[in-house]
Amino acid sequence: MKQIGRCRAHTNIALIKYWGKRNNDLFLPMNSSLSLTLDAFYTDTSVTLDSKLETDEFFLNGTKQDKDETKKISRFLDLFRQTANSEVHAKIESYNHVPTAAGLASSASAFAALAGAANTAWQLNLDKQTLSTYARRGSGSSTRSIYGGLVEWTMGEGDISESSHAIEIDDASWDIGMIVIAINKHKKKLSSRVGMKLTVDTSPFYPVWVTEAKKDLIAMKEAIKRKDFIKLGEITESNGMKMHATMLGATPPISYWEPDSVKAINKVKEIRNNGIPCYVTMDAGPNVKVLCRQSQMSDILDKLKESFTNDQLICSAVGEGIKQLTDTE
Ligand code: PMV
Repeated sequence: MKQIGRCRAHTNIALIKYWGKRNNDLFLPMNSSLSLTLDAFYTDTSVTLDSKLETDEFFLNGTKQDKDETKKISRFLDLFRQTANSEVHAKIESYNHVPTAAGLASSASAFAALAGAANTAWQLNLDKQTLSTYARRGSGSSTRSIYGGLVEWTMGEGDISESSHAIEIDDASWDIGMIVIAINKHKKKLSSRVGMKLTVDTSPFYPVWVTEAKKDLIAMKEAIKRKDFIKLGEITESNGMKMHATMLGATPPISYWEPDSVKAINKVKEIRNNGIPCYVTMDAGPNVKVLCRQSQMSDILDKLKESFTNDQLICSAVGEGIKQLTDTE
């Protein structure tokens, strides 16, 4: 008999960034982070357990993946096999619904969807909080994609894996949205895993980053309680810039920026100076994400179109947490 799990997870963009691990094997972070789940970008994954399979098989967007890619997935699924006390292999079929021009990394939604599908396939009934600790072991940012809205990933204590999990802070149903300005759709040159490690190991600014991220998180959670969009935006922009400044202090220096990233940042500043609140954040790549009020998105979009093409601009509403899919979805 074949057991199947199917799950959808949306990607998320950190407003308080995660950059650096205190435990590389367990993916335990140096600081807590906070993100916004996005509706426009998601992954659908099915996991089919099949006792006839001798190894796991992994298909991404319909294409069978090579040994190395499959190995990463197998290692992740081993966590579920261990919990279920099972040795059965699986066929994994994953579809990324990310506009091709976006060039957004999909690891956050990918591992959250895989965790959700594996949970069902092996009939483990893990709750969302526990599932977020499993997703974390695939990629740190996946921890947060288990939930929708504004989500905190608490750093946890010491080497205790279960203590480092996601929590939904707020459903973000108060006029929030995000525009992604796609600068470059090519795969990033330096993975976040390598970039983080280099920053932690060599940047003299790193200890300051950790202290600042802690302060920013406290201030942001207060702003969220008050539904203070301006404060939320100001902290988002400042925190993202501090992360990139910390990277510049690494040896060799790390920068994910391109000239058009700066062009986008300046354009957003200009729109803001003309009276519409909007704020930038960037991750381990050149794309610029603009946090704004959903109700002002089309005005901002009109202004951004003066500098960028239509297919470089992708609007997103707030996304929901993981959901199990039925056969027809
Ligand atoms: O967990 P990863 O490998 O997707 O790394 C995420 C790193 C950042 O996107 C830069 C920050 C974050 O918190 O998402």
